[in-house]
Amino acid sequence: MKFRSLFLGALMAAATLGPAAAQDSTIPVTVETGKKGPVIDRHIFGQFAEHLGTGIYGGVWVGKDSPIPNVRGIRSDVVAALKAIKVPNVRWPGGCFADEYHWRDGIGDPKKRRVTVNANWGGSIEDNAFGTHEFFDFANQIGAEAYVSVNVGSGTYQEAADWVAYMTADTRNTAGQERAANGQKEPWKIGFLGIGNESWGCGGSMRPETYVDELKRFGRFTRNYNPAQQGDGNPQAMRRIAVGPDDKDTRYTEAVMKAWKERDWTWSIEGLSMHSYTVIKFPATYDSVNFGEKEYAEITKATLRMDDLIAMHSAIMDKYDPDRKVPLIIDEWGTWYAKLPGSPEGFLQQQNSLRDAIVAALNFNIFARHADRVRGANIAQMVNVLQAMILTDKEKMVLTPTYYVHKMYLPFQDATFVPLSYDAGQYQFGDIRMPRVDAVAARDTTGKLWISLVNLDPNRAAAMELKLPGVRVRNAAGQMLTAAKVNSVNSFDKPDTVVPRPFRGNVVNGTVKVDLPAKSVVMLAID
Ligand code: AHR
Repeated sequence: MKFRSLFLGALMAAATLGPAAAQDSTIPVTVETGKKGPVIDRHIFGQFAEHLGTGIYGGVWVGKDSPIPNVRGIRSDVVAALKAIKVPNVRWPGGCFADEYHWRDGIGDPKKRRVTVNANWGGSIEDNAFGTHEFFDFANQIGAEAYVSVNVGSGTYQEAADWVAYMTADTRNTAGQERAANGQKEPWKIGFLGIGNESWGCGGSMRPETYVDELKRFGRFTRNYNPAQQGDGNPQAMRRIAVGPDDKDTRYTEAVMKAWKERDWTWSIEGLSMHSYTVIKFPATYDSVNFGEKEYAEITKATLRMDDLIAMHSAIMDKYDPDRKVPLIIDEWGTWYAKLPGSPEGFLQQQNSLRDAIVAALNFNIFARHADRVRGANIAQMVNVLQAMILTDKEKMVLTPTYYVHKMYLPFQDATFVPLSYDAGQYQFGDIRMPRVDAVAARDTTGKLWISLVNLDPNRAAAMELKLPGVRVRNAAGQMLTAAKVNSVNSFDKPDTVVPRPFRGNVVNGTVKVDLPAKSVVMLAID
């Protein structure tokens, strides 16, 4: 809370100064280099891959016989790109898809797997070629932990329990023997187990009380048998994530956290999920490419709501969990625009522009400021769907501006938050107002200090002066992401329109002067 109030204080100070005063002078940023806050959990950089459109089929899975280079059916270009951004965990198989997924459809001889219809997403044919074994192969190839969501909406306790046993039991157990017969002798590790998805909506439209009853039974019976994940306090232990709030609706937050506080020994959770998309209203009509400054300002302002939402749900969680043992896991977030013209209904295909990069950076900074409660997040979605890191079209692949922000933020994975204060100033378009700049500092796992800076203003550069008391600064260098326009995109033909470029601050009398370009994201290392 302390760090948040510093930020809010900066905003309030800016409001009293007025836009002109704040915009024309240098913005001093004081980094409290001697202090440290919580660890910024690397899992806030998690991703989400649902059976939706070409998110899996085409985007990740091309099949073993494809001319597209692949390892056991998983496309190699996508794996290489994702490995480079150290995806900490990947959530699968949904989304709404998860509550209609029956895991037995996706194991065994691929030729004999059931063929079903993806009723949630465009009615496409689901041949179950990508099932449990293929998912773990993919997660292992990219080096990510598995976040598996079990079917609460249309499944049974027994089905979910059997799936978790199949994934985690060793071969003394029939479940483990069946897995071994299908090609995987060693039990897999499940990093996170989602107990349903959006049970207040597509996951069954349950009243909070109904969900809490389901949670208790699923929480008890989905036992993880992996010997490496046993024991209280085991850092490898599987974390069970309960369905939590839909954006600003607090009913699930209240009900689940109250139940958690009053729990007996039979069940628990290790996380509460929250979903919140950056969208002006559903159904989404805003275009992902053809937009002007008004839509830029609206979306950017809308994404800043994430800070208020986290604060609001955290305050409710604090009533039941003042020690912040239960993390808030924002396991679906990102921009949601109108579908690309010509793309199939229900495939949620959109382009990704510099605006999305700014949205991503702002959200990472918000999560970092709430690092004592937010210890996981999954951007929606990994490939080809909503605010994707990667777009593919058959053999072609392009990395999006959002991908590059993930790359720039690598030093923040498991870094320690360092408080700072600044006068954010104000960016205004019509009657839409928001802070002009945003900043977060953190020390990486080697102790090096990093500062992320975002200039939200699409028209004006921001002169900033970083004061780092007690630090003998020799160098300040890193990377900067910007482009000619807020709607600049990377396309298959022009993949390098929005890519990070080297960036330097000027070290002057122990401070760092930065000229932060309009509409940019910067990550600076202080040496
Ligand atoms: O990410 C797309 C969908 O959005 C997910 O399937 C669902 O959980 C959410 O409503």
